[in-house]
Amino acid sequence: MRGKLDEDFVLNLDSRRPIKSKFVIAEKNLKKGKTNKFYIDLTLADKTGEIIGRIFPDDVNEAINTIVEGEVYEIDGTVNEFPRGSGKFNIIVKNFNLLNEKEYDLNDFIIASNKDQSELKKEIKDTIDQINNENLKNLLQRFFNDSDFTLKFYNSPSAKFHHHNYIAGLLEHTVGVLKLCKQICEFYPELDSDLLYTGAILHDVGKLEAYSYNRYATCIKLSEEGELLDHIFISCEMVNQRLKMVDMPVDIKNKLLHLILSHHGEVKNGWGSPVSPQIPEAVALHHADNLDAKVKGMLQNPLR
Ligand SMILES: [Fe+2]
Ligand SMILES: [Fe+2]
Repeated sequence: MRGKLDEDFVLNLDSRRPIKSKFVIAEKNLKKGKTNKFYIDLTLADKTGEIIGRIFPDDVNEAINTIVEGEVYEIDGTVNEFPRGSGKFNIIVKNFNLLNEKEYDLNDFIIASNKDQSELKKEIKDTIDQINNENLKNLLQRFFNDSDFTLKFYNSPSAKFHHHNYIAGLLEHTVGVLKLCKQICEFYPELDSDLLYTGAILHDVGKLEAYSYNRYATCIKLSEEGELLDHIFISCEMVNQRLKMVDMPVDIKNKLLHLILSHHGEVKNGWGSPVSPQIPEAVALHHADNLDAKVKGMLQNPLR
């Protein structure tokens, strides 16, 4: 088994040349060219990014049926700049061969959180232990004492692109937001910290259902639920379901659901919230969420 050469990582494909290297085929789509001839459009990926690949086989239907999304292939083709001089590159694929697990180095394809995951889990557990409001604590325990939930929550990526798009990305993002909220509460001690911390821990739980990903998150996609319902609605549904199992005063219940619904900020921004933040804890959660996502996003994808 041989790992990828440095120059063959997506990040380094910046000149026209032949290439024979290993990529995950993250997506395949049948497309029609200008001359009405069908071709296959591929999203090729490794841990450094994605590049478009194009195949023009004699029998497109047969070729597309053989491709399994999420698997690693040896791709033989040419790096092509299109349009010329644009700095945008794709790969014209001549041949593709499915590889088995012994034929590639998994580390070339997966990105996992580099944070200590047991520390991240402990931060959430310690926070729940310290919540004074028994109703909110009980609600959080309904989630975190459920091993089906935690198994998914601790592994899920937090996005397809942009930020925390890797195994345990959701856990890392949630703890990032939670820690920022703790700083905000030091600065504004009047805030209801129990409410804010509960909102921080639960704000993105819907992402468990909003994304589907293969074993190693080499191929993260929006699930049908994610596409049609969005993670904000799904998060509310998941919290609502468990709220039915606990005794929660209606004003706290409404505030908590409001925090989740408004965590993407002002409706007029068009970032997905159906209601704008109306209480200080909701404003705090939105800014903590946005800060963690934006800073991490830029750290992962610096402007070059
Ligand atoms: Fe979100
Ligand atoms: Fe978030």
